[in-house]
Amino acid sequence: MAPSAWAICWLLGGLLLHGGSSGTSPGPSVPRLRLSYRDLLSANRSAIFLGPRGSLNLQAMYLDEYRDRLFLGGLDALYSLRLDQAWPDPREVLWPPQPGQREECVQKGRDPLTECANFVRVLQPHNRTHLLACGTGAFQPTCALITVGHRGEHVLHLEPGSVESGRGRCPHEPSRPFASTFVAGGELYTGLTADFLGREAVIFRSGGRRPALRSDSDQSLLHEPRFVMAARIPENSDQDNDKVYFFFSETVPSPDGGSNYVTVSRVGRVCVNDAGGQRVLVNKWSTFLKARLVCSVPGPGGAETHFDQLEDVFLLWPKVGKSLEVYALFSTVSAVFQGFAVCVYHMADIWEVFNGPFAHRDGPQHQWGPYVGKVPFPRPGVCPSKMTAQPGRPFGSTKDYPDEVLQFARAHPLMFWPVRPQHGRPVLVKTHLAQQLHQIVVDRVEAEDGTYDVIFLGTDSGSVLKVIALQAGGSAEPEEVVLEELQVFKVPTPITEMEISVKRQMLYVGSRLGVAQLRLHQCETYGTACAECCLARDPYCAWDGASCTHYRPSLGKRRFRRQDIRHGNPVLQCLGQSQEGEAVGLVAATTVYGTEHNSTFLECLPKSPQAAVHWLLQRPGDEGPDQVKTDERVLHTERGLLFRRLSRFDAGTYTCTTLEHGFSQTVVRLALVVIVASQLDNVFPPEPKPEEPPARGGLASTRPKAWYKDILQLIGFANLPRVDEYCERVWCRGTMECSGSFRSRSRGKQAKGKSWAGLELGKKMKSRVHAEHNRTPREVEAT
Ligand SMILES: *[C@@H]1O[C@H](CO)[C@@H](O)[C@H](O)[C@H]1NC(C)=O
Ligand SMILES: *[C@@H]1O[C@H](CO)[C@@H](O)[C@H](O)[C@H]1NC(C)=O
Ligand SMILES: *[C@@H]1O[C@H](CO)[C@@H](O)[C@H](O)[C@H]1NC(C)=O
Repeated sequence: MAPSAWAICWLLGGLLLHGGSSGTSPGPSVPRLRLSYRDLLSANRSAIFLGPRGSLNLQAMYLDEYRDRLFLGGLDALYSLRLDQAWPDPREVLWPPQPGQREECVQKGRDPLTECANFVRVLQPHNRTHLLACGTGAFQPTCALITVGHRGEHVLHLEPGSVESGRGRCPHEPSRPFASTFVAGGELYTGLTADFLGREAVIFRSGGRRPALRSDSDQSLLHEPRFVMAARIPENSDQDNDKVYFFFSETVPSPDGGSNYVTVSRVGRVCVNDAGGQRVLVNKWSTFLKARLVCSVPGPGGAETHFDQLEDVFLLWPKVGKSLEVYALFSTVSAVFQGFAVCVYHMADIWEVFNGPFAHRDGPQHQWGPYVGKVPFPRPGVCPSKMTAQPGRPFGSTKDYPDEVLQFARAHPLMFWPVRPQHGRPVLVKTHLAQQLHQIVVDRVEAEDGTYDVIFLGTDSGSVLKVIALQAGGSAEPEEVVLEELQVFKVPTPITEMEISVKRQMLYVGSRLGVAQLRLHQCETYGTACAECCLARDPYCAWDGASCTHYRPSLGKRRFRRQDIRHGNPVLQCLGQSQEGEAVGLVAATTVYGTEHNSTFLECLPKSPQAAVHWLLQRPGDEGPDQVKTDERVLHTERGLLFRRLSRFDAGTYTCTTLEHGFSQTVVRLALVVIVASQLDNVFPPEPKPEEPPARGGLASTRPKAWYKDILQLIGFANLPRVDEYCERVWCRGTMECSGSFRSRSRGKQAKGKSWAGLELGKKMKSRVHAEHNRTPREVEAT
């Protein structure tokens, strides 16, 4: 493996130099595998849809696994895609604002491009043949029914007769956080700011046959909420107890008094069968309650680091009989410290908090405490059901609830206890991250040695991180393993939507630009050896005796499958599965040449950035190999070993090995031949002295062909196209003209002040090489 010429320059440019360290091993939060946009496309791992105009301006996404379709809401348009690999046959329906609305919006001072259009933000199922879609309608929210056909059909039409006002169902703005969920019977639940100025926050129920219901505009209910998610969650087999939960952040007056405001995260809920009150809370929620969601890391001295801003929520629905788990992604609110955390809440713990004491204080200047007085019956927040409709207690609807109950509910919407996460701490904490995290999706995967929750995180740079958090048990910190970083979009863009299809083993990832379909796993990417498969620690993948393939628990009995997610120990797992490349002696050495006193680079690119890299040198005549000693002259870099100035004693066979989880692997063996300066002088006579003009016809004519052969030997025949670059590098001295062209090749990272030998000579050699190249062998003979 000859060092690629540009790598040398790049390294000399001063980048990626790791002082004199002899081994590198970044922490486990570095992704074990990074796949670029191109890698993903060429391996068929992803397929992108950007729409007919190159960008969708995506605002809403609805994954319909029953119809095998993906519906998208964009700018003045809707799309329907079939869930097949290359997005065959996409359908588009244009839906601009109604005539005059755009002009009206501009007149009201809104931005013509970013606000005065119909941004489609709601896509919800309506019935077996129709979807409900709502858009901002150039600041006049509008809804319509969309015909999508039965299963198997692929149609998309807007029903012109169904267009109506979308006030309360869709925000006015394209960007304001908002959440909605659909409940059978045509009812849509939304959490949003419903007015033109974006000040009036409400939880709203509309559609269906019942009168619309909304939250009281009392400030104690919702303080500048940022809605993240809404979902209907059943509590038991009695449907009357079903509730719609809202997850959001609020900005509330600081609990320690004063004029400060703090951000907190909440889970709030209302009963699906809430009908409002009869005399109090008419057409308003009578069952609304909320509680704080806490996600914090205990620090030294009892100080906790809180992650208070809710970014996204994913509900992990259990196999029957288990409790629903709520995965929540949080960020810090602090201006000085940016961090993200994932906390997991058991639904049962959330219910317990709602069954606990109500928060109470005697006045705005008082401290919050638990309400200790008598709570009226039916307990506020409880849905009318068999439990409340007992004989003699005829509470079949919230309209039958006593005024006392409704007044209590209105005065005490907040629970006293916060909801704490499983194990009392986050499963994942990410600080000092170059990226921000916006979206979370989780898949529970059966592996050979247990069940793992694979977490997919959408970043603000168009990539998805695939992570597992290994719970060591007890209160110990979980171990985080970043399996892959997948650059889904070509340009950095925040991921705004993420859905998973476990059935199809696919992730659907949306950004403003468009959507991507991404396979959850592609096991062959990890390599062709058992050890590589094992070190990947990917719960989706196992070694089946011949290759790294998708692990399916049901098929596990057929063959012995090797997988060790918890420890990633290939020494144990891959005994007797030895592959080429696992033992040092088996990798053949490649010969590379370097010239004495010149710089040389030995490249070694380990598959995993988590592996520690070691270099061994076997000198001719020595007994065994030695560790390569690094110093000012010999540098260990991320991409290999850099000799700033080669000595004849550097000659020998270099072996680059990686160590990961106790498993050592040889990446490359290079036999370095040092061409000593005197040898080279035979080929190239010393530079002409500055006062002497360079001889015409030059050096080559005196020593025909020899130099040409040597160059090819120096750089290897495979690199023939690089002759040009190589000559420039080796034979040009840092004059302006020369460094100019050098700079352009080394991606703007020039090696300042580096001496590359005589320019005149270099130019001549270059043209010689070109000339020789273009001639027939006969002509070369004749020179
Ligand atoms: C990707 O998919 C296309 C079309 O299905 C196929 O022709 C191609 O061979 C696939 N490439 C790889 C690397 O699997
Ligand atoms: C769905 O709703 C639309 C509009 O209300 C109606 O025209 C259509 O017949 C309904 N479809 C079914 C299958 O009920
Ligand atoms: C590289 O080798 C050439 C030929 O021996 C020599 O003239 C030049 O000074 C060397 N460059 C460095 C940086 O040592």
